[in-house]
Amino acid sequence: MVNEAKKVAVIGAGNVGATCAFVLAERKIGEIVLLDIFEGFAKGKALDMSQGGQILNYDGRITGTSDYKDIADSDVVVVTSGFPRKPGMTREDLVEKNAEIITQVGKGIKQFAPNSVIVMVTNPLDLMTYHMQKITQFSAERVVGQAGILDSARMTHFVSEELGVSNEDVQAMVLGGHGDTMVPLPRYTTVSGIPITQLISNERIKQISERTAGGGGEIVKLLERGSAFYAPVPAAAIMAESILNDRKRLLPCSAYLSGQYGLDDIYIGVPVILGKNGVEKIIELELESDELESLSSSAYFYKDQLKTILGY
Ligand code: NAI
Ligand code: 2OP
Repeated sequence: MVNEAKKVAVIGAGNVGATCAFVLAERKIGEIVLLDIFEGFAKGKALDMSQGGQILNYDGRITGTSDYKDIADSDVVVVTSGFPRKPGMTREDLVEKNAEIITQVGKGIKQFAPNSVIVMVTNPLDLMTYHMQKITQFSAERVVGQAGILDSARMTHFVSEELGVSNEDVQAMVLGGHGDTMVPLPRYTTVSGIPITQLISNERIKQISERTAGGGGEIVKLLERGSAFYAPVPAAAIMAESILNDRKRLLPCSAYLSGQYGLDDIYIGVPVILGKNGVEKIIELELESDELESLSSSAYFYKDQLKTILGY
């Protein structure tokens, strides 16, 4: 049975948005509304997914729309609307075009789902999460971005391949911005509790960290059209689920810092506890000086972009 009491809106019915609606439906998370600027695109995908309900045993309602009235009373809104990058582009190259989209979407959420928690996915992630919070004026805990779960999952995959062990036993931790400045943390990356620094040479760890930071770009280059969505979607979906079911999962997410890690007025990837109120706690890891320096330079990179491109 679907959880009728809960409602999730997914904005953007493209690769990430539609797949996210599908994964949430399979998890019987609640009523799902898929909104896209192209009404038929959202409606068609919602109808297609609804017709698979009997086969995959989810009975919840999935509807498609382009009308923000339909997202009323959503508990969580997952925002995926916006352009993905093309080969050769950085995520930051999308900032101006996607900021316009986020302004429009933010106004719709503020008017029709004022009590929701927003999970941002649109790139450049940390900048768009900041922008969304400013547009909606929601309290910072109720706007959170997906990045670190995906980046950590990528690192997990590369570590499991390197050691020839199951993914299931690997836990990785990647902080910082969702871009070239991200901060993989080998000291906090473990295989059944054993830090990888005891299992893999420094040289190979460096290569794995670099491949992790370039993980999205590697896929963009291979696809030639569009960007990754199979791994990003479950990352966003478990955030939505932790909020909806108040699970208090501890996950690396882009959260608003106000003094933690010595950083202020910035969204950046850090470990947080996610519950019904959104970001309920920011965990301050003990970082060595080079790790903290990498996190700070990632944050200052985005601070500069916020100021020079978005005018904050
Ligand atoms: P896509 O092009 O497949 O889908 C984007 C959808 O947004 C389209 O259906 C489009 O019609 C819709 N849209 C555009 N403007 C809109 C508006 N004003 N209102 C409502 N809908 C609107 O792109 P895809 O692959 O789904 O990626 C979406 C975004 O998510 C991109 O910015 C991408 O870079 C980002 N992304 C972020 C990840 C992360 O880890 N944070 C991972 C994967 C993608
Ligand atoms: C990624 O890392 C597109 O940001 C997305 O795959």
